[in-house]
Amino acid sequence: MSFEIKNNIKWVGKTDWELRHFHGEEYSTHRGSTYNSYLVRDKKTVLIDTVWEPYAEEFVRNLKKEIDLNEIDYIIANHAETDHSGALPELMKEIPNTPIYCTQNGMKSLKGHYHQDWNFVPVKTGDKLNIGEKDFVFIEARMLHWPDSMFSYLTKDNILFSNDAFGQHYCSESMYNDLVDQAELFQESIKYYANILTPFSKLVENKIDEVLKLNLPVDMICTSHGVIWRDNPIQIINKYMQWCKNYKENQITIIYDTMYNSTRKMAEAIGKGIKEADKEVTIKLFNIARSDKNDVVTEIFKSKAIFVGSSTINKGILSPVAGILEEIRGLAFKNKKGIAFGSYGWGGECIKLINEGLEKAGFEIVDEGLKINWNPDQQAIEECMELGKKIAIRTK
Ligand code: FEO
Repeated sequence: MSFEIKNNIKWVGKTDWELRHFHGEEYSTHRGSTYNSYLVRDKKTVLIDTVWEPYAEEFVRNLKKEIDLNEIDYIIANHAETDHSGALPELMKEIPNTPIYCTQNGMKSLKGHYHQDWNFVPVKTGDKLNIGEKDFVFIEARMLHWPDSMFSYLTKDNILFSNDAFGQHYCSESMYNDLVDQAELFQESIKYYANILTPFSKLVENKIDEVLKLNLPVDMICTSHGVIWRDNPIQIINKYMQWCKNYKENQITIIYDTMYNSTRKMAEAIGKGIKEADKEVTIKLFNIARSDKNDVVTEIFKSKAIFVGSSTINKGILSPVAGILEEIRGLAFKNKKGIAFGSYGWGGECIKLINEGLEKAGFEIVDEGLKINWNPDQQAIEECMELGKKIAIRTK
């Protein structure tokens, strides 16, 4: 599959319908993904990025149907991670001297991955590559999301090739943002931001400011995963500008794991109490042991407060709860509140440990938390509801 985007620019990537996990098992991809590669023809011909290694042979085979590979004058590697560079070894067997434009860190990373001394041309922000009527302008995008990432902007066509930024793990037969289900598109976009870009939000803000100050018209954003933003592309930039500023919606998320349903009953009672005090707030409950981690992270991203609950076991907490606390520590959410709860039989260490986890993750602990001995009776259920009400009022 290939298709023309605009003025001799073709998409020559790979749609991966069956991908269900990315970064090993780290990121769930319920809707598959795409690895977008682009062939740009002017007086010179440029290939932007490639595809993931398992599809390398297929990629090169298909590319040969588009072009005599010897006619490719330059390769731009916007990012060295192997989902974009994975077909380079296969391709470079055929055209070993073709210059590869990338950042200095991109060169280090590509050498680290493939141990090849290809014809690298390191570039930095503002450097240009003339290809005839048009120029590529390079913009380093350090930590969006890796130290080597960069954007390439094509003049006259006004296209920003943004690599991972503004992308989604979203496979669709319609590769344009205006042709796909909008709810799915924005769900995959916010999930991508929440799980991958949250720790770099300050850098996202600064980079978008920097790009906007360049006053480059942007008619299209060609990402390296998911759809091409051709209809009002500024809309995804605006979303990023919201998401990077300690984003939250009017939502409280309750996350727990439970051994014999006591902590689950507490979670449900807390949710009921919140709703009684605030009819407007969105409440979501997740048994983290039975939920997709990345989906839960996305809901945490949208929340103004979270409750985290666990039974006490071996003076500790259940491992799925420990896992999500570690996950959110790494993501460094800002300006969110956290509250612990849990049931116990003997020790009751769950509250202390959850509070420690929330603190390490940068959450503001707004209540000492609630632990209930054994199976919650009616009085305990009412205590849980009271806690829910108190937090609802406090965060209204
Ligand atoms: Fe899509 Fe950072 O690789």
